[in-house]
Amino acid sequence: MSSTSPSAPGVRQADFQFRCIACGELSGSARQDFRCTGCGDLLEITYPAWKQSKPDPDELKSTWRNRKLSRSPIDLSGVWRFRDLLPALEDDQQAITLREGNTPLYELPQCARIAGVPRLFAKHQGMNPTGSFKDTGMTVAATFARRAGFRWAACASTGNTSASMAAYAARGGMRSLVLVPEGKISWSKLSQALDYGAVTCQLRTDFDGCLRLLQQLVLRAPVYQLNSINPFRLEGQKTLALELLEQLGWEPPDHIIVPGGNLGNSSAIGKALLEMRELGLIARLPKLSVIQAEGANALVRTLREGAGKRLVSVSADTRATAIRIGNPASWKKAAHVLEATGGACEQVTELEIAQAKAEIGAEGIGCEPASAVTLAGLKKLVKQGFVEPSETVVLVLTGNLLKDPDFTIDFHRGELFKDQGHGGSLDALRHPPIVLDANLDSVVRILEQAEKS
Ligand code: F0G
Repeated sequence: MSSTSPSAPGVRQADFQFRCIACGELSGSARQDFRCTGCGDLLEITYPAWKQSKPDPDELKSTWRNRKLSRSPIDLSGVWRFRDLLPALEDDQQAITLREGNTPLYELPQCARIAGVPRLFAKHQGMNPTGSFKDTGMTVAATFARRAGFRWAACASTGNTSASMAAYAARGGMRSLVLVPEGKISWSKLSQALDYGAVTCQLRTDFDGCLRLLQQLVLRAPVYQLNSINPFRLEGQKTLALELLEQLGWEPPDHIIVPGGNLGNSSAIGKALLEMRELGLIARLPKLSVIQAEGANALVRTLREGAGKRLVSVSADTRATAIRIGNPASWKKAAHVLEATGGACEQVTELEIAQAKAEIGAEGIGCEPASAVTLAGLKKLVKQGFVEPSETVVLVLTGNLLKDPDFTIDFHRGELFKDQGHGGSLDALRHPPIVLDANLDSVVRILEQAEKS
């Protein structure tokens, strides 16, 4: 691989355009850092053809329903099944797919009672092939990387993006380069990247440092950047909202609540909601709210202190390592969709995250800590009266329980918050493992004790 890329493959396609989110400049191609050549801001994908003739919403719904009966790989993907609202491929065979999407919508009756709402659902993106929502974006972005002729894909990551990118690059016959903050991502995510064959660099910095370096690297070397700055990622992630609304019979919930880190996912879901309303697929918008960890609350502060006009960066710290991000790249996109849908932005403490995660686990669902901010945030939004006691809510659970076993084990063993008082509020949720001699009486005694508790 040479260090410069005069003949690096470009990103070009006809049926969509790139639009700068700040100056509105339209373009048929994008630079490798996916930034506007005029003002340097982020790009989004737009479909000019919709201006002349919008796709018919009833036809779209029946096409998507009919594809569920098909056995072709592109239709078996819960992302490409909605390809009418995605950048077009010349040939269905081009899609690199692991049958992503198709994730369950679970009802959470116990968590609904705890939060004080009548109906609470979890759209579980942790049930994707590599265990997180990243796969829905990665299938699209990796496909366009290969289509544009790139041999290398690269990302900065708190873990899930790297696992997903490594898998899709491998499936697509590409190499991948991962930049992760040393010591700050879970072993299970790191192990995925290694197994899928990525060149994995643990950099002595944080996520924000990794992303800064990647942005420079893509201008120096012909590597395709697969962070959520890449607008193809967000197009794929949009399908979460399409699939959700289809599962709800196209009846929008009152609220959708999503964790916020680099803010790509909230931006993608918001874009989908606005497009669905524009195309007449839904009649009204759910409110989209973003929840952050208190120790990584850049968007909360940006909206409160910067009135959503300037980014207030923070030095991030949280045990929910997936969202340990202080300088979120997509803050402007997220601020826009929150405003457009009338959503809220809240922050939750480490203790509230751990408690909510255990409550979701106790329903037999489970998720990783970053996903649990949604339930913790919902409780706050109900208390504040922002979510009313009659309203239907969907939490987006972004990652699988198995993504961060250390957090879960530390929690149940009582090693999380050991030195901080929590007034016993977590005790009923803890189920520590019990070490015993292999003796029948001992096990029966444990069973009897448990029955009484
Ligand atoms: N939840 C999980 C499980 C994540 O992995 C991430 C982000 C988020 C929520 C936040 O989503 O960044 O779109 O606001 N993880 C990235 C990564 C940054 O590298 O895996 P976001």
